[in-house]
This record gives sequence, C-alpha cells and structure tokens, in this order.
Amino acid sequence: MVWSNTRDKQLQERAHQVIPNGMYGHESVAMMPDDFPQFFAKAEGTRLWDIDGNEYIDYMCAYGPNLMGYARPEVQSAIVEQLARGDTMTGPGPGMVELAETMVSMVRHADWAMFCKNGGDATSIAMVAARAYRGKKKILVARGSYHGSAPWNTPGMSGIVPEDRAHIIYFDYNDLDSLTKAAKFAGDDVAGVFATPFKHETFSDQSHVDADYARGVRKLCDELDALLIVDDVRAGFRLTRGCTWETVDVDPDIACFGKVIGNGQPISAVLGANKARKAVESMFVTGSFWFSAVPMAAALATMKLVRETDYLKQLVTIGTLLRTSLDAQASQYGFSIRQTGPVQMPQILFDDDPDWRFGYRWCQLAMKHGAYLSPYHNMFINAAMTEADVAKTLEATGAAFADLQANRTTLEPQAKLGVLKRLLAS
Ligand SMILES: Cc1ncc(COP(=O)(O)O)c(C=O)c1O
Repeated sequence: MVWSNTRDKQLQERAHQVIPNGMYGHESVAMMPDDFPQFFAKAEGTRLWDIDGNEYIDYMCAYGPNLMGYARPEVQSAIVEQLARGDTMTGPGPGMVELAETMVSMVRHADWAMFCKNGGDATSIAMVAARAYRGKKKILVARGSYHGSAPWNTPGMSGIVPEDRAHIIYFDYNDLDSLTKAAKFAGDDVAGVFATPFKHETFSDQSHVDADYARGVRKLCDELDALLIVDDVRAGFRLTRGCTWETVDVDPDIACFGKVIGNGQPISAVLGANKARKAVESMFVTGSFWFSAVPMAAALATMKLVRETDYLKQLVTIGTLLRTSLDAQASQYGFSIRQTGPVQMPQILFDDDPDWRFGYRWCQLAMKHGAYLSPYHNMFINAAMTEADVAKTLEATGAAFADLQANRTTLEPQAKLGVLKRLLAS
C-alpha cells in the first residue's frame, strides 16, 4: 500500500475548527515531523493503523501505556468480563481491594495503594501528601523533570501564576550538592523531594540514576523528615517489577505509577509506606472515574502478566537488538547517533544535528516506511515485539538513512523547534 494521509489531513482541518489548536498536549503532532498522522483507527499487538489505513510498528506505545502489546488477549478478556458486570458505579467493585493487595505485595516499600486516572493525578496526590505529612510547604523538584500538566509542573507558562510554584524549589538531577543547596534554601520547610527513575527529559540525552545520589536523596529526606517520592509514571514496570529505585536499593515513601498499569486502560496509582498513611488519610482527594471497575480489572490482568511472564527479558532482548542494529546501520550510512536511557525506553538523537534536520527527516521517512519513531521524546519497547518487528523496522530506518545520506547537504534546518520554544515561553 502506498502511504497517504488524505483522510488525516481532512480530519485535522475539521479538528482545527472545534478543538483548540486542532489538538493539545503531548499527543498533538504539531511538534512531530511534517505529515505525522494525528488520528488512528486501530491498534493491535505491536501495530498501529492511522485513519488512512497506513500500518506502523509503534515505538511510542501510546506514550507508554502499551506494555504487553495493544489489545493483549488476557487484558481484553478481563475488560469484557468486567464491562458486562459494571464499570463506573456508585462505588468501586471488589477488584479495587484485590488490586491494592496485589500492588502492595509487588512493590517493596508499599503498605497501601490509592488509584486515580492519570499520572498527573498521582503526582499531585503525592505532592499534597508530602505537605500533609508534617505541615511543611516546600517541594524539591529536579529542573526539567515532567510530573504532569498541573500548574505546579506544566512546561508551558501560559495561565500559570508565580503563586502556583511559590513553594517549588528546583535542583539538578543526579547532583547531591545542588539538591542540598535547594534544601538549605528551603530552610526547615521541606515537605518532599520528587525523583524520577532516571533522567528522562524530552529533547535530551537520558542518563541513569547514580546509586550514591539516590542513597543521598534518601538520607537527606530522612534528616529533614520529608517524604521521598519516586515518579514512576513513565518508567514503572518497564524497568523492573517494583518501584524503579529498588534497582539501586533505595525505597521511597511514595511512588506514583500510571501509563502501563492497565496496559492502556485509564488507571494510575499512588503506592505508599505506612509512614505516609496518616497524611493521605487526612486529605480529601477523589474523581468521578477513579473507582471505575474496568480499568482495575485490566490492571489486575496486567499485573498478573507482569508477575508471571518473562516480559522484562523480552523488552531487554528487543531493546538491545534494536539499539545495536541501529548503531550499525547509522554508521553504515555515515551518521552517528546517540542512543541513551534504558534499552526498554530508547531515546535516539543524531550527533552533529544542532537544528534537528537529520533527526526530524529520518523519523519522517521511517514513519512513511512503517516505523513510528519520535525525534525528541524517549520511546518505548513493548513485550509483543519480536525480532521480526526489529527486522522490519530496520528496513524502514534503512530507507530513511539512505535518503538522508543522499540529501545530507541540502536539508533545511528544522523549524518546529521555534514553535516549541514559543509555546514554552508563552
Ligand atoms: C514522569 C511522568 N510523570 C507524570 C506524567 C503525567 O502523566 P499523565 O500524562 O498520565 O497525567 C508523565 C506523563 O508523561 C510522566 O512522564
């Protein structure tokens, strides 16, 4: 089938009439290379079909939620069975207790669980919990870390007033001196420290957490009697079967999960230690859909797969194969790429590409050949991916590299970066 985007373009035009900017947030394709489809018709396993019928091997995995393969049968059956019994009701079903018991048993530091919808719900609950814990105000957050689009953390500044962030103090990730300075600045008013599993900002190389740093964060929180919060929304259950900082042997007081836990169904979780229980018990937090039974059934089925399958090994095998193959392919065509972050969450940036002309063009061409990749955001491997998918991906990326090589000297700088800078500055 020849790639085309006639229907997507028409739908984008209609969307522009009735949806602000035609789309908002990170799933807007405004920042993606030209022609990226905005609207999708179907997803199954490793594949995604846009509304023009083009098929892609999808490395964005819905920006994370697809962990076990889209429409994974075990999860689908749980959804269908629960849907027949009830979803959004006047209260939760028994699955809520089972899910809480399950997640508490899987995550080392956790004694209790709360469920909500989006990752941003979970991180905001954690922030409020840190303040409720000892009545202190300051929250320490790594510069550039994304914890959701609530006013205290959204990267865009339009509509945000200084008071929204009056008690947020920033430090540099993996830098204990910087964190200590931020804590000193807060005096005796530190309520909590936010950590991410690794440094996973958009537009930049990713870096792993330093174990000494993680231990230092824990020690500082203990000295200050502040809560340590690990935001596992993006990486949770892709790197390990518990909280990601377990891999460096550091336990937080609260960890936030989202994205994958229902393999695509809308559910997120806050998992905490007894130390933080009284604080959360004193808070009023809720949402009309937080107790819906279908996403909880999906999460139970997903967590069963997490416990009982070899999915982590598959993610690492496929992620490693993709990384080594792309490195070899890039140098074969005379390009040098930087692949950073865990192999399960690849970030691919081109060397010698300050205005992103190579990265954007490469992704655009790979997309048109059937591999959906991002030029600036970390990507995600899912457990349904096979060596055959990687081989097919390499056909797409090979075609993209060949074109890039042929047109290397005539490519235009990437104009979309200006759009982003304006958006973030507004
Ligand atoms: C680390 C992290 N925290 C929080 C969030 C917010 O999650 P959501 O978009 O589900 O609100 C995200 C979303 O990408 C994230 O990557």
